[in-house]
Amino acid sequence: MHIDIISTVPELLDSPLSHSIMQRAQDKNLLTVRVHDLRPYGLGKHNSVDDYQFGGGAGMVMRCEPLAALIDELRAERDYDEVIYLTPDGERYAQRRANRLSLCQNLLLICGHYKGIDERIRETYVTLEISIGDYVLSGGELAAAVVVDSIGRLLPGVIGDETSALTDTFQDDLLAPPVYTRPAEWRGREVPAILRSGDTGAIEAWREEQALERTRQRRPDLLGDELADD
Ligand code: ADE
Repeated sequence: MHIDIISTVPELLDSPLSHSIMQRAQDKNLLTVRVHDLRPYGLGKHNSVDDYQFGGGAGMVMRCEPLAALIDELRAERDYDEVIYLTPDGERYAQRRANRLSLCQNLLLICGHYKGIDERIRETYVTLEISIGDYVLSGGELAAAVVVDSIGRLLPGVIGDETSALTDTFQDDLLAPPVYTRPAEWRGREVPAILRSGDTGAIEAWREEQALERTRQRRPDLLGDELADD
């Protein structure tokens, strides 16, 4: 998979994408991520990428011309499955969308700043708008990092244990069950005996029951109505 990201603060994306699983995905050539600085495409001697909004009001708006110039350049190189704008008024991001995006070949992510980008860029280029939650970040970069991380770890071969991503919280609309490692007893708290029983059938059943119970208690909204009301 190839992901291009457009940003006015590319440094914000350096660290999240160059460690741990994201680094491994790139080292194995399963994922390439290129962050493109919008600033050189800015207008005038100050490379301006934003301007006051028509109609007045606080906050600057990212201009059409620099964004269009860079997007056109990138689109000449490859066909994108989706051109994604990270914005608090986008579709609420969830595992289902991450799963779908992980099947794509080429993605272009646009990070906004200030009051956002000119509406005409959204109308002209953007095919999907994503919000990572109901709060406002100072820019789209952290949201882009969240999207890239959640997709990258789903690519086949990225996570060592092939089944690991499938048993994540949310993959079956359930929260994950509790997990334990050594020691078997810590500060008087014991690991549930069943997990040390070696009975794989019983362990699987226990995990399913725990996942359901945890979801019922913490996120009943994830369950069908009949189950949640029990
Ligand atoms: N940009 C600013 N806030 C955001 C959010 N909550 N999700 C995605 N992009 C954003």
